Amino acid sequence: MSHASNVPVLAIDGPSGSGKGTISALVAERLGWRLLDSGALYRAVGYAAGMAGLDLSDMDAMARCAQTTKIQFRAAADGGPTRVIVNGHDATDELRTETAGAAASAIASMPPVREALVALQLGFRKMPGLVADGRDMGTVIFPDAPYKVFLTASAAERAKRRYKQLKEKGLNVTLGGLQREIEARDSRDASRAVAPLKPAADAVQVDTTGMSIDDVVAKVLAVVQP
Ligand code: C5P
Repeated sequence: MSHASNVPVLAIDGPSGSGKGTISALVAERLGWRLLDSGALYRAVGYAAGMAGLDLSDMDAMARCAQTTKIQFRAAADGGPTRVIVNGHDATDELRTETAGAAASAIASMPPVREALVALQLGFRKMPGLVADGRDMGTVIFPDAPYKVFLTASAAERAKRRYKQLKEKGLNVTLGGLQREIEARDSRDASRAVAPLKPAADAVQVDTTGMSIDDVVAKVLAVVQP
């Protein structure tokens, strides 16, 4: 068994809608590495708390919920997006909604909630390598990652991408409403006291505004394979 610190990690951090999810999945596939979607963990805890009728502002209850929620990732039978199973229920679709994102962002500002999810995240670091997608992958969870990327895009462009995604799923959203939600979530994520959203000092910053997915993938892969 090799020591975890020998396992290469590519940390991909950035705000919501910067393309992290899509890019991380494609890059992990190209490298043949594992993938950690850390946002899904915060979404899953928020979702489990909602299902249990808990008060999302009750830090002790949220910490307990983060410690006890069973979260599993399962490859989809049809080759589609990885399924996220929360306490035995396939919650993949519910977790992608803006409501789940807002709940995740609210509980993610609570230190004991973040603490409860650390070991789970570290456990993803296995050979041949890990692509870790989140907000604090390069700064807090894998500060020793040899490869770090910080993806950004303008709030208007990110709202447009999210609008397209949600419309395709038949959800009833407006572009202006989404942009306001994205900006509110960004400012909460960036201004919180613990693990705020910020680029690691040694991260390569990539502004994806106006870039194609293929171009961003190529740019990120070049960080690992120059
Ligand atoms: O990336 P995603 O939009 O799924 O993340 C949902 C929320 O979870 C973010 O807005 C952020 O508040 C929180 N999060 C976090 N740290 C991470 C990943 C997500 O605080 N590593």
